[in-house]
Amino acid sequence: MRRGVVIPAAGVGKRLGGETPKQFVEVGGETILARAVGVFERNDRIDEIVAVVSRSRVEETQTTLRRGGFRKVVAVVEGGSERHESVRNGVAALSLADDDLVAVHDAARPLLPAETLDRALDAAEDTGGAVVCLRARDTLMKSVGAEISHPNRRDFFYVQTPQIFRRGDLLRAFAQAAERGETPTDESSMMNAFGATFALVEGSPLNFKVTSPEDLLLLRALLAYGVTNP
Ligand code: C5P
Repeated sequence: MRRGVVIPAAGVGKRLGGETPKQFVEVGGETILARAVGVFERNDRIDEIVAVVSRSRVEETQTTLRRGGFRKVVAVVEGGSERHESVRNGVAALSLADDDLVAVHDAARPLLPAETLDRALDAAEDTGGAVVCLRARDTLMKSVGAEISHPNRRDFFYVQTPQIFRRGDLLRAFAQAAERGETPTDESSMMNAFGATFALVEGSPLNFKVTSPEDLLLLRALLAYGVTNP
């Protein structure tokens, strides 16, 4: 069985402010995207990596990743206006068979711990799918109009990435979503609607998505403190 990775990085990342999308911000001499790619480059079980970026960033990303010595990157391809289009383009660029596994990982999560990735790969090999997520820790409150309720936090998870599925299942689910005119925000929701089963794998608070200026500050502080990918 072979294992490929798609790293969607074609988003515009407006929430961070500034001109540069978050995944292209340099932190400690390396872009956030390159840091995310590095986690998979260093894992012996990963065979191929595809990065998906906006058209204007294709060349620059190819150069950066080549200079970074990432030998598993087989392609840098253009993304779409929606995340699922970007991921679909990335999956198409991997030279994998239908039974091989594809891990989709947000470019904006540069501190994915190596051991979380290994557990997710184990689970996907056992069950055909794995989604890394974090159990809700705080009390949850739902507020809709004037109505307030407190759902049981034991039932809730924050969905992270990687999300790992068989290539064939992913492609069939993309086709079904397109037929139905759906625009899934991540693969877990799409695969659930498709009827696929997958394991939930406990993630890490370090695997946060760099979204706001505070997240960027946190990332810089963690790197300065010597935290990389435990
Ligand atoms: O917007 P959000 O933070 O949920 O995006 C998650 C990941 O998907 C980011 O790494 C972003 O660059 C990527 N993305 C993409 N193509 C889009 C939108 C988002 O590759 N059209």
